[in-house]
Amino acid sequence: MPTDASYAGFDRMWADLQPVGRVSSGGYRRFAWTREDHTLREWFAGECTARGLDLVEDRMGNQWAWWGDPDATPGVVAGSHLDSVPDGGAYDGPLGVVSALAAVDALRDSGFQPSRPIGVVNFGDEEGARFGVACAGSRVITGELDADRALRLTDADGVTMGEALKRAGRPASIGRDEDAVRRIGSFVELHVEQGRAMADADRYDQDHAAVAIGTDIWPHGRWRLDFAGIANHAGTTRLEDRHDAMLACATAVAEARGLAEKHGCVATIGKLQVEPNGVNAIPSHVTAWLDARGADEAAVLAMVEELSERAAADVSRESWTPTTAFDTSLAGRLHNILGDVPMLGTGAGHDAGILSNAGVSTAMLFVRNPTGVSHSPEEFAEQADCHVGVRALTAVLQDLAG
Ligand code: GLV
Ligand code: MN
Ligand code: MN
Ligand code: MN
Repeated sequence: MPTDASYAGFDRMWADLQPVGRVSSGGYRRFAWTREDHTLREWFAGECTARGLDLVEDRMGNQWAWWGDPDATPGVVAGSHLDSVPDGGAYDGPLGVVSALAAVDALRDSGFQPSRPIGVVNFGDEEGARFGVACAGSRVITGELDADRALRLTDADGVTMGEALKRAGRPASIGRDEDAVRRIGSFVELHVEQGRAMADADRYDQDHAAVAIGTDIWPHGRWRLDFAGIANHAGTTRLEDRHDAMLACATAVAEARGLAEKHGCVATIGKLQVEPNGVNAIPSHVTAWLDARGADEAAVLAMVEELSERAAADVSRESWTPTTAFDTSLAGRLHNILGDVPMLGTGAGHDAGILSNAGVSTAMLFVRNPTGVSHSPEEFAEQADCHVGVRALTAVLQDLAG
């Protein structure tokens, strides 16, 4: 079990990461294959090699650090991601990576000898903030995202992922990596909670309120909507003569809200690209990205279908993740280890979901978020709760690898 030294190690790693990619909002911009991402990858590699773990990269550049040989016996893996959404919080991703390293320290300090290998992973490009497809790291290695398609994805400056990899000095020969997936006997992703279910759950005693076990992830997807207009002068073009792509887009944003209510789902249009993007020019083209999710797969797809019919746009799907049900027997085992902690589903996507849908036995642990705010600089978890998370993850790894 963790000692004061393990918690101090957690605090030290946490402090190390705070300056990387921090922006004036107080949030983070840590996008795939940028300088900030490189700094984070180097940090992860340094932490792992300092511990004498074997560091390997898979065919998508996800970083794996092993204690033991996963080619002899598939291992127990913990970890998450270090990238962020635009102006994201400090916890989404890094909490899982830092907690996994601290749990490994705690196990080693206690003299624990695993009978199965233990791995720590840093998945790349989980948020899809730069190239649009979330969990690109896990999607490519599991074959869920075709490598050729991934290489052709572009960022807001028109840089393809292939070019970004080249600029980052990475091999462009990315692809499915069955060996990397086969090495994962089970995967446990610890993550900050991204809603307020735990803060609102009052039936649990203090010892059992800070960590929850994940049960499932809502089906979710991203769609691209292209609205065409005609550029013209903002002062001289009569209202009846305009072909304004932004007006069509704004109408669709309002429609999405109404359809989400009708179908009992959630829909978000949070990213736009406008051409020519001038204050005094009527927009000739707007690209909007729709994020749609809900408990019921058919309802989400029906909502998007109806929006596609109503919106004056070309609509194309960029990614889709069906309902993810985590391994119930693994969740039950975690429940036995951790006691009567909350069991929660979530509307947030994770690499854990991609691995689970690819057939890996997978579980998640959530650490309480007192306000529930996430994907925002306000995202927060108490230090004491983070330490409870480290303790829970240590107990889980000890049991699964014992
Ligand atoms: C990723 O965090 C997502 O759920 O969008
Ligand atoms: Mn996220
Ligand atoms: Mn995350
Ligand atoms: Mn996520």
